[in-house]
Amino acid sequence: MLSHQSRGTGLPVVFVHGFPFDSRMWQPQLDGVSDGFRLIAPDLRGFGRSPAPGEGPLTMDSHADDLAALLDGLGIERAVFCGLSMGGYVLFSMWRRHRERVRALVLCSTRADADTEGARANRRALAERALREGAASVADAMIPSVLSSETRENRPDVVALVREMIEGTDPGTIARGQEGMARRTDSTDLLPEINVPTLLLFGSEDPISPVAVGDEMCRSLPDARMVVIPGAAHLPNLEDPAAFNAPLLEFLGAVTGE
Ligand code: MLT
Repeated sequence: MLSHQSRGTGLPVVFVHGFPFDSRMWQPQLDGVSDGFRLIAPDLRGFGRSPAPGEGPLTMDSHADDLAALLDGLGIERAVFCGLSMGGYVLFSMWRRHRERVRALVLCSTRADADTEGARANRRALAERALREGAASVADAMIPSVLSSETRENRPDVVALVREMIEGTDPGTIARGQEGMARRTDSTDLLPEINVPTLLLFGSEDPISPVAVGDEMCRSLPDARMVVIPGAAHLPNLEDPAAFNAPLLEFLGAVTGE
């Protein structure tokens, strides 16, 4: 079973981290979204404390199957899933393969389309850099785009945590993860079928998954609404937890009341 953190009792909510992070990125949600919810934050295979036996790409489908197995292991039939960036890609696979387990979705800083050839080339370059220079060099490359200038100036604790998570990831996992994301299926055509309540949360300053990408997804999803977190980039849940948790709590409350 995937290593995971858990808190509370009630409606199960599974938080799926981005790349190359781990369950620690959800600390402000584990601490701030408590009463009435069973919060579960796994480390996807290869990340945090979950091992990644074998070789080859860490695909979105394998992560989705791991999440279904985690629910089985915890005796949970259906859960709300909240995924950020790669976590969102995993949730599209989850919908494709295990949609009966999905009660509602929160999609943060993510996108439904597959990589362009240019994006795949960038992934190969980052994978090579990780293998050649180590994870610290990947942290140097990623931090300016995942955290806004405001966050980098004012939140040294967030910068330190992000660096710690990236530097703690094995370079081999970074390479396998990049390959897995490069191979992901285009989920754009899936969006109109996703008929569960969906909340989109995007940072206003995100250069990786810009607000326009979220707006477009929101228009294609049958039951979605979107909230933009001002001043945050790719990790709004860490950059401005209060602005992130308020709409999340409101959404979870509405799902509970259904
Ligand atoms: C993430 O935060 O999970 C990554 O930015 C996703 C990606 O590289 O496409």
